[in-house]
This record gives sequence, structure tokens and C-alpha cells, in this order.
Amino acid sequence: MSLFAITGNPVLHSKSPLLFDAAYPSHADTLACFRMAAQSAEEAVQLFDELGLSGMNITAPFKSGVAQLADVRAPEVQALNACNTLTLEDGKKCCYNTDIFGVLGSLENAGTPVAGKRCLVLGAGGAGSAAAYALHTAGGNVIIANRTVDKARRLSESTGCRYAGLDEVADIVPQTDVIVNTLYRGVDVIDEAWLRPQHTIFDAVYHGSTLQEKARRAGCKFVDGASWLLHQGVPAYRRFTGIAPDVEGMKKAMLPQKQPEHISLIGFMGAGKSTVAPLLADMLGMNVLDVDATLEARCGADIPQIMGEKGEAYFREQERAVLEEALASSTPTVISCGGGAVTQPSIGRQLKENSVVVWLYAPVDSCVSRISIDIDTRPLLAQHGNPQQAAAELFEKRKFLYAKAAWMLVSSAGRSAEQVSQLIYDEISKALRS
Ligand code: S3P
Repeated sequence: MSLFAITGNPVLHSKSPLLFDAAYPSHADTLACFRMAAQSAEEAVQLFDELGLSGMNITAPFKSGVAQLADVRAPEVQALNACNTLTLEDGKKCCYNTDIFGVLGSLENAGTPVAGKRCLVLGAGGAGSAAAYALHTAGGNVIIANRTVDKARRLSESTGCRYAGLDEVADIVPQTDVIVNTLYRGVDVIDEAWLRPQHTIFDAVYHGSTLQEKARRAGCKFVDGASWLLHQGVPAYRRFTGIAPDVEGMKKAMLPQKQPEHISLIGFMGAGKSTVAPLLADMLGMNVLDVDATLEARCGADIPQIMGEKGEAYFREQERAVLEEALASSTPTVISCGGGAVTQPSIGRQLKENSVVVWLYAPVDSCVSRISIDIDTRPLLAQHGNPQQAAAELFEKRKFLYAKAAWMLVSSAGRSAEQVSQLIYDEISKALRS
């Protein structure tokens, strides 16, 4: 069983885990992919190691940081000082940059092969660098234009392209076949009057492209930034798994989908689910439901009593009933699940379909030390002479199930409950509601 994650700016890669799931429908029992919130490249790589991931897709702003932390860098990573794909090969972290295929694959798919074409790349940041390098490598005749000309000049030296300032763009556009825009959303330097039907415009901006309308009115061929996401994902996922992904399935996964109203918190005992859930519900103005507490109130007994007298199977039935009711409710609710809810695979699936599932993660030893004062309330650990070891074994058994059910992982290690809630809030509002 292999685990993969997507990390970096939540807005940019919000769709990637969906793409991955759609890429391998027949390997659902062995491959899992989730978005991983991280606040630095260091945190992303630490989680990669701790969780024993097999691969990670990386977006801005961690592309350079992760490249520096990897053991082996592919030639294109060395040229660009940026990676978007990290894999574990013979115990070594190896990084690659498939953004090059993101650019070339998108243009090829749109019927614009690059060889011999005059190309203008707007912007000299991470995406601009990858675009310039890709177009030049594929035989394009490339000019990089940037507001800070010096940055364009430096990039031109490392990529073998020419460079210009943004004030020269008006003169360059008429002599150009392909324009790739990587400037920030809202920065639009192209005047519609300069555009002709022979232009191909590729806007790396995913949402709210202002160029799209201009291109349509001028009769140009337009390539959507989402296509870049798809085409970088195909070789990245192939590298992760060694298996060719289902590209048509991935395309379907990119279509807009309705977001569930509920949020579920899953994760190991002691990760902080019950503490974080009410804080998060408060921030989002949602109801909160703690599955264990609801179940105890319903049964009129606490968990050790229920498990002791009626057994774990009975407990799981009750847990399922409470969860199914919560998911069916029309009131948007933050649901705090018990640590073992996902051990029933159908529950994992129901959670994923009907709620935004957040895997609250902390290393097992810190989970155990957090719950050590009231370990008696966790019969699955309390019955063992060595709860630490029992917890580590249980977590290893469950890790794949958490990953499979999760939309995203948020680490509570080194964070207060307030910080964790804020991080989940930010993730949900940026990644899912943008
Ligand atoms: C369990 C976790 C507990 C509780 C029960 C079983 C588990 O919930 O549901 O003891 O199987 O991991 P917490 O995760 O809230 O401790």
C-alpha cells in the first residue's frame, strides 16, 4: 500500500488529490492520495518522512525548498532550482520537475507544437521559469518578459532564452506565435488590440483569467491553466506508481463538483479531534457533533463500559449509526469521529463522499503522551501492557485507512488547538471555497 500527498499553496493544487483518485480507479485498495497542509518546505518533507510517503506533488511556494531538501535532483530541477515531484527510490528522496510536461503537454494537446515557434513568456517566477525552460528545450524561440528586467535577464542566461521588460511587450506580441502568461492574477499586460487569430494564448492563472475573454473575442486559440495541472500530473503520477494513469478519468475529475456541507475530523486517538472540532465549528458558524460523546449519551454508558460489556463489534455498530445520522443531517456540522471510525471501510467511503474529511495527524508518541492521563478511557490501548507499542502498531495498521478517507491532512504537532483550527479554516476556505 502506498501513500502520496500534494502540498504547497492550497488554491493551486486543490484538485490534485481528486485527479489522483481518478487516475487509478482500479488501484483504490493499494494507493491513497491526500492534500497535505504544511507551512514550510521543511514541514512538508518532515511529514513525508514521518508518514513514510512514496511520493509527493509540490506546488509554490515550496518548489525550491523541497528541491534543496531532496537527496537527488534531476537535471531539470538543477536548471530551474525547483521541483514539483518527490519520490522515494531505494531510500533516497529524488526530485523531478514535470511542469515542463505541464506546459508542453498542454500546448501539444491544443494542437500547437512548439518547435520553431516564436514564444513570449510573461513573468520570470517559478512558473515562468518552467515555461521558458520547457519551450526552449522543445525548440521554441523564446523571449521572457518581466517587470523586473534583471530577473528576466538572469533567467534568460540559465535557460538560453532572450529577455525584455514588460514595456516592450506591445512590440513583441505581433512577432509572436505563442504567449504564455504566468503573471499574478489581475496583472494583465496584453491589450486585446494586439491579438490576432494566429496567436495561441496559454494562461497559467487557474481561476479568473482576464486573458480568456480577450483571446476569445480576438479569435485566438486559448489554453486554460487547468490543463497545466493535468499535464504535469500525468508524468508525476506515472513516476509515483510506475503505472500509466487514466487521463480521461483525470479530465472528468477536473469538472466543477459540489462541495459537501459537513466537515469530519478523523485521526488517531489523542491527535486533538475533540478539542479542535468545537473551535473550528465556532469559526465557521457550524454545528458540532462528537461521535463518542453522542454514542455514550445514547447508550447511557461510557466507552470502556460499552466495549467491556458488549464488545468492540457492538461499539462499532453504534458508532456507524451515529455517524450515518450525522452525515444525513441537513445542518452543516463539524463531526469529530472516534479514532477507529475508518476501520470500517464503508464508513471511510461515506465520510469522504458526504463531508470534507480532515485527517488530524500527530506522531503516535505525542498522541500517547497526550492521552496517558486518561488512558483508561481508551480500552483498545489500556488493555495492553505497553500502550506506546500497541498504539504504534495500531497506527501503522490504520495509516492507509486514514489516508484513503482524507481530503486533507493537517498536523497538530507543535501547534495549539487554536492554531490547528485556524490552519484547517484557512485550508478549507482557500483550497475548497475559492
Ligand atoms: C477508538 C478511539 C476512541 C474511541 C474508542 C475507540 C479507536 O476515540 O472511539 O476508544 O478505535 O481508535 P478517540 O479517537 O476520540 O480517542
